Amino acid sequence: MRRPQFGMQMFKDRRSELARQAQGSIFILPSHPDMLRNNDVHHTYRQDSNLFYLTGWEEQESVFVFRPGQKPESVLFVRKKDLVRETWDGFRYGPDGVTANFGMDQAYLIDDFDQKLVELIKGADNIFYRFNIDPSFDTRFLKLLEERRLSARGQYNAPVRDPNELIGEMRLRKSEAEKKIMRKACEISAEAHVAVMKATRPGMNERELHGLFIYEAFKRGAGREGYGTIVATGANACTLHYTFNDQNTKDGDLLLIDAGAEKDFYTGDITRTYPVNGKFTDTQKRVYEAVLTANKEILKMIKPGFAFNKLQERTVEMLVDTMLDLKLLSGDKKKIIENLDYKKYYPHGVGHWLGLDVHDAGSYLLKNESRQIEEGMSFTVEPGLYIPIDDKSAPAELRGIGIRIEDNIVVTKDGCENMTAKCPKEISELEAIIGRG
Ligand code: GLY
Ligand code: MN
Ligand code: MN
Repeated sequence: MRRPQFGMQMFKDRRSELARQAQGSIFILPSHPDMLRNNDVHHTYRQDSNLFYLTGWEEQESVFVFRPGQKPESVLFVRKKDLVRETWDGFRYGPDGVTANFGMDQAYLIDDFDQKLVELIKGADNIFYRFNIDPSFDTRFLKLLEERRLSARGQYNAPVRDPNELIGEMRLRKSEAEKKIMRKACEISAEAHVAVMKATRPGMNERELHGLFIYEAFKRGAGREGYGTIVATGANACTLHYTFNDQNTKDGDLLLIDAGAEKDFYTGDITRTYPVNGKFTDTQKRVYEAVLTANKEILKMIKPGFAFNKLQERTVEMLVDTMLDLKLLSGDKKKIIENLDYKKYYPHGVGHWLGLDVHDAGSYLLKNESRQIEEGMSFTVEPGLYIPIDDKSAPAELRGIGIRIEDNIVVTKDGCENMTAKCPKEISELEAIIGRG
C-alpha cells in the first residue's frame, strides 16, 4: 500500500481559501491525459498542477469536483482498483483509498462521472472549467453541459469561467510552506548545475551533460526535471528552447544550460552559460558581462509595489545599450525600442512566474495594466543575448554567441530573496570550477 507523499493539511487549507472566495460555484478539474509515447509505451505521468494544488492527488484518469459550501464539497473521481492493471502499472488507491487518505468528502469511480455530475452541477451559479487540460474530456464536459441546459428548458445559464481566475491568483502568492519547497528545488537545481560545471570538458556531448544534471538532481531528491532541459553548445544556444541536446561540445564554445529540478512538484529554472574549456575569450567576456550586469541590476530593482513590466523595460534599455556598443545595431536608441528592433537579439521577456509550473499560473495584467509585484510572488530573472550564426550584419566574432543568465527569486517585504544565489555566475567563480571535477 502506498501512502500519500504529502501531508494533507496544506491541500485542505487551500480548498478552504478557495471555498471562501467561490461560494455557490462548481470547479471541475480533469487530470491531464496519459500520453502515448510510442506503440504501447506512455510518457511519464505528471498530474495537472491545479488539480494537484487542491488535492495532492497524482493519479491519471481522474476528475476533481469542488463545490464550495455544498455537501459533498470535495469529490474525486478516480480509476477503480484493478489487480491485473496494478500488477503491470503499479498501485491505485481506488475510491476507498481516496476517502481514507486524501480527506475528500466523497470518491467515485471515473466511469460514473457523467451520471454523478448531473446531480453535482445542479444549482451551481458559476462553472469553473479550463479547456485543453484534456481535449477529449472537453467534448464530454460540453455534452454534459448541453444536457443540463436542455433538461432545464434552456433556463440554465451558469457562465463557464477559467479556474485560474481564482486558483492562479492563489498560486501566485507563495505560502511559507511553498517557499520552503521552492528553496529546496532551487538548491538542488543549483547544486546539480555546479556538478555539471565541474564535469564539463571540450568534446563531451550535450546529452552526457544532460544525463549528469538529471543524475545529480535525482541524487538530491528531485522527482523529475521541471521542463525540457536545454543543453546547448555554441550556436545552439541561439535556439531559445533547443532540446535536441545531442551535439559534441567543442573547445572554444560557450555552453548554455537551462535546467531545473522539480521537488515535490515545484520546479527551479536556472540558466548558466560558460566556456566548455573553462576560459572566457575577451569577446565572450564582453557579451557575458553585459548580460550579467543586466541580471544583477534587475535583481536589485525588485521590490513590492514595482510594476512587473518595468523590469522588462529596464532590461530592454540595458541590452539595447549593449547591442549599440557591440555594433549589432546602430541608430537611435528610442526608435530601436519603439520598433522592437532589439527582438532580433533579445526576443523574450526578462521573467515569468515560477512555482508548480515552470511558467506558472497567475495573470501578468490587472485591468489591462501590468500588475505590481507583491511579497511572496516568485519569478525568474533571465536576461539574454543571442546572435544568430548566420547574421551577416553582426560583427563576425560575435556570430553564434548565445548567453542567458537566469535566477529564481521570491519577493520579500522590501526586496527579493535570490533562491539560486548559490549557483555561480561571476566569470572568476566559473573559471575556477569548470572542468575541475
Ligand atoms: N526554461 C524555460 C524558461 O526559462 O522559460
Ligand atoms: Mn525561465
Ligand atoms: Mn529557463
